[in-house]
Amino acid sequence: MTAQTGDPHEEQKRLAAIEAASMVREGMVVGLGSGTTSAYMIDELGRRWAEGLRFAAIPTSEHSAEQARSHGINLVTFATHPQIDLDIDGADEVEMGTLNLIKGRGGALFREKIVAAASRRFVVVVDESKLVPRLGHHMPVPVEVTTFGWELTASRLQALGARPTLRLDRHGTPFNTDGGNLILDCNFGEIADSVALARKIRAIVGVIESGLFIGRTSEVIVAGRDGLKHLMAG
Ligand code: A5P
Repeated sequence: MTAQTGDPHEEQKRLAAIEAASMVREGMVVGLGSGTTSAYMIDELGRRWAEGLRFAAIPTSEHSAEQARSHGINLVTFATHPQIDLDIDGADEVEMGTLNLIKGRGGALFREKIVAAASRRFVVVVDESKLVPRLGHHMPVPVEVTTFGWELTASRLQALGARPTLRLDRHGTPFNTDGGNLILDCNFGEIADSVALARKIRAIVGVIESGLFIGRTSEVIVAGRDGLKHLMAG
């Protein structure tokens, strides 16, 4: 369970998450995002599940799976449910205008992108601090890479203009994704052409996926001091 903190920033995330959870209808197949904002959404869906709402869910991380299971939510796989109706997830940055995203601070970017790509509708939930004029404003781009040869992959990313840093866990050892891979956090500064950059990153051998989510967002629910706003993809 995610506790309410009384922190206004947390309250904004919670409100955006609850608004998105209200879009889930009986019988839907739902993508469950990862991260602290998505955790509020999963708790709200757990509350609705306890009230009798029934749906199937595909989680984007082991952590979200465990949280959903603790509520008794019905978890399924692509083997039986290849099409997701609605995917709800957080983001680290949302580019105003394009609604392109940086995701992956929690390390779940690869599964998150698979789920987003399988969804009819991808709804992103954020507080207003995540809105930026250009991607890369505050955050590096997380890139999931294979363990074998990661140093070489890092130098290829550096050649694209990044300053890659191998992500470490809290014990100071390399962070492992749910898929057993590594993450290179790549600071490009503000990204002028995120479409081209996403393509160039993906073309590097050893890269599994990047945290640049281009052209995938259907809608962003933003919570701020003035309440909730819905930004729709053009
Ligand atoms: C997880 O890998 C991420 O993509 C999260 O969705 C993203 O970092 C947003 O997380 P918060 O809601 O915790 O800010």
